[in-house]
Amino acid sequence: MLFKQQVWLRQKLLVLGSLALGSLLYLVARVGSLDRLQPICPVESRFGGTHSQAEFPLRALQFKRGLLHEFRKGNSSKEQVRLHDLVQQLPKAIIIGVRKGGTRALLEMLNLHPAVVKASQEIHFFDNDENYAKGIEWYRKKMPFSYPQQITIEKSPAYFITEEVPERIYKMNSSIKLLIIVREPTTRAISDYTQVLEGKERKNKTYYKFEKLAIDPNTCEVNTKYKAVRTSIYTKHLERWLKYFPIEQFHIVDGDRLITEPLPELQLVEKFLNLPPRISQYNLYFNATRGFYCLRFNIIFNKCLAGSKGRIHPEVDPSVITKLRKFFHPFNQKFYQITGRTLNWP
Ligand code: A3P
Repeated sequence: MLFKQQVWLRQKLLVLGSLALGSLLYLVARVGSLDRLQPICPVESRFGGTHSQAEFPLRALQFKRGLLHEFRKGNSSKEQVRLHDLVQQLPKAIIIGVRKGGTRALLEMLNLHPAVVKASQEIHFFDNDENYAKGIEWYRKKMPFSYPQQITIEKSPAYFITEEVPERIYKMNSSIKLLIIVREPTTRAISDYTQVLEGKERKNKTYYKFEKLAIDPNTCEVNTKYKAVRTSIYTKHLERWLKYFPIEQFHIVDGDRLITEPLPELQLVEKFLNLPPRISQYNLYFNATRGFYCLRFNIIFNKCLAGSKGRIHPEVDPSVITKLRKFFHPFNQKFYQITGRTLNWP
């Protein structure tokens, strides 16, 4: 009799356990597919239904992204999201460069902060004449939905090296905060080359070796016409920006340190942006397979950057590396002096 009761109890526990596990799996699946769900209230009601059919799907998608973003960051449950407070705000801070400095990693990591909302795509508003001609409202509408007390951040690394951009950004907001993430200039130039090389290979095109591009074969000197070299002369670009913005409006992020030790770099940015310190070690975990830090939003959501970030660089002739480092050295010294941040590059 006792044995029978025990078997019955065990069966009951098994059924209850399966039910609990099933519900848990269902919940996880639903949360994971939140971005595929309809917004809680119709988007038309928020926008007064004045939008053309062609415009509507994109707006709806952005709207849903806004919800998902808030939910993922644990700011509110699906029910608590205060839909009517969500707005599209111009950025209060922009990651203006430098290409291959770690701009995506920086943006994604800052987005861990509950008061930060990232524009996922590079918008290229200020560096692209065609986009710029569309006006500031076009730009604003490219921004994600956020709460008024949050700050929007976008990144377009081409801004740093494009002549017209400082003046255009100044005209939008002369007190905007500007983030520049830099890496040791020669490494950055090789990373830049690697990205272009990968694109060429994808299209089955042949390409020159880095050495051939970086060194002028006639003079055996560094080829300053090569874009990957020019971009790494940080001080030259910064000087153009300083005609519009005081140095206090810039913050330099050490891109090499962001790879190996992201938290202290992020804490410096939090301070610069006057944000309460919220990003913690919990949000960042080292993924040995990727060889990089990845992001943890909460118990359910974590992610690593795409495989296009963290490419293996080709071997470069050490004498070319030495030559480049020697070339960049005086520019680096000036950069440290102007910015007040010494990075101990070779
Ligand atoms: P490499 O591909 O040369 O390694 P950007 O986003 O500006 O294009 O910069 C890309 C660089 O970000 C990568 O260059 C990589 O080294 C760096 N990076 C920094 N932190 C990273 C992270 N957590 N995951 C992947 N890449 C990261």
